Amino acid sequence: FDEKVLSGKQVLLTAGPTFEPIDAVRGITNISSGKMGYALARACRDAGAEVTLVSGPTALTPPVDVRLLPVQSAQEMYQAVLSEVGRSDVFISVAAVADYRVKNRSEHKLKKGDAVPVIELEENPDILATVAGLPAAPFCVGFAAESQNLLDFAEQKRQRKKVPLLVANLAQHAMGADSNEVVLLDDAGQHPLPAMSKDEVGRAIVAHLARCLNR
Ligand code: C5P
Repeated sequence: FDEKVLSGKQVLLTAGPTFEPIDAVRGITNISSGKMGYALARACRDAGAEVTLVSGPTALTPPVDVRLLPVQSAQEMYQAVLSEVGRSDVFISVAAVADYRVKNRSEHKLKKGDAVPVIELEENPDILATVAGLPAAPFCVGFAAESQNLLDFAEQKRQRKKVPLLVANLAQHAMGADSNEVVLLDDAGQHPLPAMSKDEVGRAIVAHLARCLNR
C-alpha cells in the first residue's frame, strides 16, 4: 500500500477452522486452510493497522508483526474475540466456525466396544452476530462461503447478522486454494472482484473497507 489506509486502526480477525473434541484424540471440524484470513491479516498490517488474529488450528506460518491468539474450539474463539473486541475498530470474521460442538464429549479415548457411540451435538454461539449486535460494535466484516445461490444466501446472511460488509465466495473455488473470486456486498449493492490470489483479494477487501470507514 502506498498510503497506510488503515493507520491508527485496531483490527481483530478470526481465521481457520474450529475443532470440536469428541474425545481425547478425535473431533469435528470444518474444512478451512486459514489462507484467506491470514492473507487478510497481512493486508491489514501492510495498510498500517494493528492486527490481532484469533486463529483456529492451521498449518500456516504466523504472520510477522501480527498478534496471534491460537484457539481450538468455537467457544475458545468466542471468548478470545469477546475479550479483544472492546479495543477494536474493525472485526473481520473469516473463520469457518463449527456450528455445533459435542455435548457428550469424553475426556478419555473412546474404546471400540459393543455399542456404537452416539454423538450428541449442541449449538455453538455465532461470534459474528454477537459482535455485530454489541452496543459499541466495531465495523464488522463477514464472510459467506456457499455452494449454491451464492448472492441470495450471502445477502440474506448480511442482513440477518447485521454486518455492513460481507464477502461472498463459492466454497468450491475458495477452499484450500491460493486464489479466490469474491463479491463484496454492502448497502450500496454488489461489487464483484476478478479472480486473483488470496493476497490480492485481501488487499482489495482492505481498500474497500477503508472507503467504507471514511464514508
Ligand atoms: O457459517 P456462516 O455461513 O453463517 O458464516 C458466516 C459468517 O459468520 C462468517 O463470517 C463466519 O466467520 C461467521 N460465523 C461466526 N460464528 C459462527 C458461525 C459463523 O462468527 N458460529
